[in-house]
Amino acid sequence: MSFLNEIEPLKQTALAELIAAPDLAALEQTKGAWIGPNGKFTALMKQLGTLSKEEKPAAGKLINAAKQELEAALASRREELELKAALPKEPTDFTLPGRRRALGKLHPLTQVTDDIVRAFRKIGFAVADGPEIEDEYHCFDALNTPADHPARDSQDTFYLNTTDKRLLRTHTSSVQIRVMEKQPPPIRIIVPGRVYRRDNADATHNPTFHQIEGLYVDKNVTVGDLKGTVEFVFRELMGSDVKIRFRPHYFSYTEPSYEIDFTNALVKKMGKDWLEIAGCGMVHPQVFETVGYDPTVWTGWAFGFGIERIAMLRYGINDIRLFYENDVRFLKQF
Ligand code: DAH
Repeated sequence: MSFLNEIEPLKQTALAELIAAPDLAALEQTKGAWIGPNGKFTALMKQLGTLSKEEKPAAGKLINAAKQELEAALASRREELELKAALPKEPTDFTLPGRRRALGKLHPLTQVTDDIVRAFRKIGFAVADGPEIEDEYHCFDALNTPADHPARDSQDTFYLNTTDKRLLRTHTSSVQIRVMEKQPPPIRIIVPGRVYRRDNADATHNPTFHQIEGLYVDKNVTVGDLKGTVEFVFRELMGSDVKIRFRPHYFSYTEPSYEIDFTNALVKKMGKDWLEIAGCGMVHPQVFETVGYDPTVWTGWAFGFGIERIAMLRYGINDIRLFYENDVRFLKQF
């Protein structure tokens, strides 16, 4: 009688342990402990021979049924754990794009632009965008550029053949105006984009090239913030040996205005002390008036620099036209 009574609780414990096995190795161990040659359940079966003739059939039936149940539980737990082992260990983001064969590479100008954007994102700048076909208001008037300024001349600017004097933007500064028209301060943006000028193509000029504009508007903004920001970004981009120098200059939309010179080992290697890299300054109060910001409350700075110039310096390229020829022998190198 005691033998028959032992089967059921033993089976229940064995089942519970099999189902709880956390992985395949643990499952094999549990299997050995119960139904392996030295297992507890096996030991029970061995006792079958000691039973009387009357007891044997019932006990044999019961014990066989229990063993089958244990084996079925073992098989099903094994299947579950095998499936689990085949799944990725890290959580999977199913919204990621599929794995594709990498075709080609990013253009060197795209790579440089991405790096600049990444550096500015670290310090809280957002990317803004504006149209390449502009009007005179956003490209010149609102930037305080007088009607007789040479930049407005058709010698320098591509005008479209429209009655409203539409043009191809000559700089990304037009986007400063578009952003400030749309939203109240504070503002912290950069604007990478294509610009157009009637330059004849030579080794350092091309009728279209790329700029990055920056605009920061808040209370109590200083030239110190501007310098610190420019220095941070160029060090991210070109290494910690970068030095920056501000030289007084004139832009109609900033006062005071500066040109930014840049130097590092690369510049020295080119046989130069400094390289002019950008224009910048404190946003002119008239520009704030024009977009409806109160210049007695708000202060700000802006800058603009050429992406090609930075890319040429970074990669040691001496002819700007190489960027636009799409010669794979050139593009493959980046
Ligand atoms: N727009 C100028 C250019 O194309 C660059 C520039 C200078 C942008 C000063 C600015 C600035 O935002 O403040 O040469």
